[in-house]
Amino acid sequence: MTKIAVFVGSLRKESFNRSLAEGIEGLMPQGVEFEYVDMGLPLYNQDLDGDLPAKVVELKKTVEDADGVLFVTPEYNRSFSGVIKNAIDWGSRPWGKNSFAGKSVAIVGASSGTLGTSQAQSHLRNVALFLDMKVMGQPELYFNAATGLNADGGIAEGSEDFLRGFAKKFADFVESNK
Ligand SMILES: Cc1cc2nc3c(=O)[nH]c(=O)nc-3n(C[C@H](O)[C@H](O)[C@H](O)COP(=O)(O)O)c2cc1C
Repeated sequence: MTKIAVFVGSLRKESFNRSLAEGIEGLMPQGVEFEYVDMGLPLYNQDLDGDLPAKVVELKKTVEDADGVLFVTPEYNRSFSGVIKNAIDWGSRPWGKNSFAGKSVAIVGASSGTLGTSQAQSHLRNVALFLDMKVMGQPELYFNAATGLNADGGIAEGSEDFLRGFAKKFADFVESNK
């Protein structure tokens, strides 16, 4: 079994990014399991590094037990969301206990517009590399929710093949770095 810790960077009930994550999950090869990280975390506070909140302990364990990590981020004001940054800051601490080090990672994102999260993903890639994650370079995935999702939030037929190809490539990438 291959385990992937999934970070969805939008808390919105009908989030396109959540739909994208669930769509990718449904297209993953057999034997790959997604675990969604609870993103309803307190704001990072260094005073708590010695006594981490329970949800943060859980986040760090989920990442450490996982073979790979998938970040699914909206683009907020030309960067990735604060929800993702906050979760990464917690997971990277306390100093010397970075839970993300060495993990195989893919970064994707969905947006309502045509520019489609490229700047958000680029910023997030910098942070991931700094934290010693192994980031998959290709294929990139910039998902336009207007054309890629059905009205019920499912993946549109025209996007399925590309997403299935992405899912297989990521599964192989994680497997090869195990
Ligand atoms: C605070 C904020 C800033 C945004 N900035 C951008 C942006 O820079 N680029 C972009 O393509 N979309 C931007 N959007 C639109 C988002 O792509 C859109 O709201 C998207 O649906 C968010 O993802 P979600 O559906 O998973 O919540 C922004 C939305 C918000 C709420």
